[in-house]
Amino acid sequence: MEQRGNFTSKIGVVLATVGSAVGLGNVWRFPTEVGNNGGAAFILIYLACVLFIGVPVMVSEFVIGRSTHANTITAYRRLAPGTWWRVGGIQGVFVSFLIFCYYIVVAGWTLHYTVASFLNQLSADKDYTAYFQNFVRSPWEPVVYAILFILMVHVIIVRGVEHGIEKFSKLMMPLLLLIIGVLMVCSFSMSGFSEGIAFLLNPDFSKVTASVVLSAVGQAFYSLSLAMGCLCTYASYFSSDTNLVKTALSVSLIDTCVAVLCGFIIFPAVFSVPGVEADAGPGLVFITLPHVFNTAFHNVPLIGYLFSLLFYVLLMLAALTSAISLHEPITAYLHEEWHLSRKRAAWIVTSGCMLLGVVCSLSMGVWNDFRIGGLCMFDLFDFVSAKIILPLGGILICSFVGWKLNRQLVYDEVTNRGSLRVRLFGVYIFLVRWVAPLAIAVIFYNELFRK
Ligand code: PFF
Repeated sequence: MEQRGNFTSKIGVVLATVGSAVGLGNVWRFPTEVGNNGGAAFILIYLACVLFIGVPVMVSEFVIGRSTHANTITAYRRLAPGTWWRVGGIQGVFVSFLIFCYYIVVAGWTLHYTVASFLNQLSADKDYTAYFQNFVRSPWEPVVYAILFILMVHVIIVRGVEHGIEKFSKLMMPLLLLIIGVLMVCSFSMSGFSEGIAFLLNPDFSKVTASVVLSAVGQAFYSLSLAMGCLCTYASYFSSDTNLVKTALSVSLIDTCVAVLCGFIIFPAVFSVPGVEADAGPGLVFITLPHVFNTAFHNVPLIGYLFSLLFYVLLMLAALTSAISLHEPITAYLHEEWHLSRKRAAWIVTSGCMLLGVVCSLSMGVWNDFRIGGLCMFDLFDFVSAKIILPLGGILICSFVGWKLNRQLVYDEVTNRGSLRVRLFGVYIFLVRWVAPLAIAVIFYNELFRK
């Protein structure tokens, strides 16, 4: 049995965890939600959700992972031996698998759009809706890209925690931030800059309804990678002097800044082209933006080309670092509990996800007629994982740390055995015991029974 991996530096801890958090949720989902839910008012509510629900849940996952230094399933079993609480660990690993299977489909699209931008295929005036739909519905193209993407994830995972995940995150995350900086400079020089920024910064509270608040909580969970076993697994590689609260605050802050900065990139671009809607929905990134890149820079096509290429590289890298964090909880479990070598464990996960990923991908096209409960496989995976298992998992984590775990153990973890002063420990416990689980329960009820 190989030795258990660990992150070797503080910066490695933060960058790997930020790598998990920053993904399609920031670049694709967040601007879409902002566009649909009234701009800055949504952002303000989102910030409150991150602070009062996201950070406490993240610290709780860190406590579970770091106190046991084990994969998620073993972690729950060690902390509450012989009890039903082990379901918490099982759901974490299971839901990462489900999400991974359809996440790689969209991640494959980002790879395709990167290649297409590089080959300058997105620049000719074309019907971008038809282009996107033809690609997604093709029986082989999205499948090939999804498989290529998962192989990229696999190569990183088999190299291990230190030489794979940590090293890759240390390389890619600064690059990602650099790309965001360059794209922002481009956005600042566009004609729709002030309109785009106004859209992002002027809150329109008339649009705020209960469902907008619920979307904000859902977005916070998704964007911070909460309740999926990923953060718990990553925390099991933290060293005993990692400051859990500070790490959770830094990761949440960086993740939120990246999401908002992506808004600063996308909306000025969108408002620079007359007739394009800011609330274009999920098609924003794959249909609206190629059109925008092409039209806004028609005078200087080279800038349009570079803007488009950099944007899709950004999207792909963000998806890649998140995807490795979805692969890791399952690989770690198989490696540690089934006593398989890391390489073999990773192959099992990769093959299983490839199989189901292909099914999810084809369900957007040739297998679209095969439906369960009216949903194609892609939507079914999304629905079961994001709408059912995730909220339940969130409630489980909060209840586990807030009610079941020994208070002294939680205190010891949060304060590194008393060596750190954590002034708001009581507030943290209150949020984990009451605020977070109740808020999640309300979303769960609303999503499932009200719509
Ligand atoms: N947080 C990622 C994003 O914003 O795209 C998605 C994600 C990654 C969700 C890892 C869950 C996860 F465990």
